[in-house]
Amino acid sequence: MKTLTCLFLTVTLVAGSTVLLQAQIKKGKTRAASTKQLMGGLVKPQCAALGDALKTAPADDKAWDELALKAALLNETGYLLMDDGRCPDGVWAGAAKALREGSADVLAKLEAKDHAGAQAAFQNVTKSCGECHKAHKK
Ligand code: HEC
Repeated sequence: MKTLTCLFLTVTLVAGSTVLLQAQIKKGKTRAASTKQLMGGLVKPQCAALGDALKTAPADDKAWDELALKAALLNETGYLLMDDGRCPDGVWAGAAKALREGSADVLAKLEAKDHAGAQAAFQNVTKSCGECHKAHKK
């Protein structure tokens, strides 16, 4: 009987913490925005626009600035993903860090007007999306 109770408790605890982790991945603890909304409204639009625009070299200062703006906003999302108790584990934290570092590199290359460098750095940004999604996007 004791073994059964113990087993029951273990199963309940494991199931309970999985549910909590799932909840945390989908939404932080106190803020209103869901992860899905952050992805659809902030992360994806900036990433897609940056990827598209990087295909050709910016024509003038205004175009360089527009690219830099997207890289800067994408960089901020790497911090948002760690806020409000959203981060469930090391994979998530590592991917968010890779997103911050990759986008900061893109921004630095854009500020130096290094188009090829920015394109290369952008590869690490998209890699970070895949790292987190593989583990956490169901
Ligand atoms: C640290 C983790 C993490 C990183 C980094 C990350 N994502 Fe996500 N993303 C998620 C999770 C979790 C979901 C699933 C959210 C849900 O459905 O509740 C998701 C879902 C999405 C979706 C689907 C949104 C929808 O409306 O269903 C898109 C698009 C997306 N991510 C784009 C990106 C792009 C582009 C990047 C890289 C620039 C990125 N994500 C980086 C965790 C991450």
